Amino acid sequence: MRNSWSTYELVETFQLAHAVSALHETGILASLERPRTVQELSQQYRTDATVLEGVLNYVAARTNLLRKVGTTFVVTRQYSSAARFLLDLYIGAYGRNAAQLPGILRRSSMAAALVDHTKYANAFQQVGDSVLGALVQIILQLKLTHVLDLGCGPASLLIALAKQDRHLIGWGVEMSPAMHRLARTRIQEAQLSKRIRIFLGDCRQLQSVVPPRAKQHVDVVVASQVANEMFAGGQATAITWLRQIRRALPGRLLLIADYYGRLGRTNATRYRETLLHDYVQLISGQGIPPSNVSLWKQVYSRSKCRLLHLIEDKTTSRFIHVLKL
Ligand SMILES: C[S@@+](CC[C@H](N)C(=O)[O-])C[C@H]1O[C@@H](n2cnc3c(N)ncnc32)[C@H](O)[C@@H]1O
Repeated sequence: MRNSWSTYELVETFQLAHAVSALHETGILASLERPRTVQELSQQYRTDATVLEGVLNYVAARTNLLRKVGTTFVVTRQYSSAARFLLDLYIGAYGRNAAQLPGILRRSSMAAALVDHTKYANAFQQVGDSVLGALVQIILQLKLTHVLDLGCGPASLLIALAKQDRHLIGWGVEMSPAMHRLARTRIQEAQLSKRIRIFLGDCRQLQSVVPPRAKQHVDVVVASQVANEMFAGGQATAITWLRQIRRALPGRLLLIADYYGRLGRTNATRYRETLLHDYVQLISGQGIPPSNVSLWKQVYSRSKCRLLHLIEDKTTSRFIHVLKL
């Protein structure tokens, strides 16, 4: 990968990203699964035909998402669910953070409120279960059947587990109302409401969010892609968070699936995806997670949690840490 973009590439990308995002958000790109003319589109979406034609021509000329065929436009296979996820997450959910960066630079406390949680939930709607594959396998192999998933998002992990193990009972904790709604809808659609329950609340306050009867039965706690949100302003929040999990559920296993931060490290340019993610974490007030296992171990030992085992993916910087609370 090339290390850095030129100014020309930056300004071009800025305009292209806005053009693609507008076509994506209005639903125009999704409607181009079959070839359509500008006239048809501008009637349906009530847009100015000349401007729309120009935007479509530009996106077709400079991205791999759209093709012009005669007088029609059609999306390519590159407008995949993975591409939609990237657009919804990095432009949809965090777009306001990018636009209001001058304000965030002056007052970082405004960053978290700028995240669009509905678009964030939409992004996760199209993510399949495969990203959670390793966690599913670990939990099934260890024959753990009572799972508490912190920051469970759309409940993909609990649904995948319950589909594979009919004895599985799951509880999730989710703070975003939009994501909580999405999780409950997906559980109902999968007809798993009797075995999976999602609590709306903050997993930094487990004692009040999860009822004692559920806590009593939990044999494994999972935090997948949520610990990284606990590092704004250093390690203190993460340590307090882990301590209260240990107090609520002493002796249980805790699986943390997360990633090592890369922003500001030497050789960081190898990790293009991680750098982008670190950056949006920073400008959305979530902080950047520790960059190596020694630093994570510091957090664990200060929380009196014991790291038993770790699985690391060197290419993406993702990991799973298995801890005893
Ligand atoms: C990156 S998503 C990961 C979702 C899911 N665990 C997965 O791995 O696919 C992080 C989720 O954690 C939720 N979250 C973040 N902080 C939280 C907190 N303190 N309490 C409860 N949920 C939280 C967010 O709303 C979001 O849905």
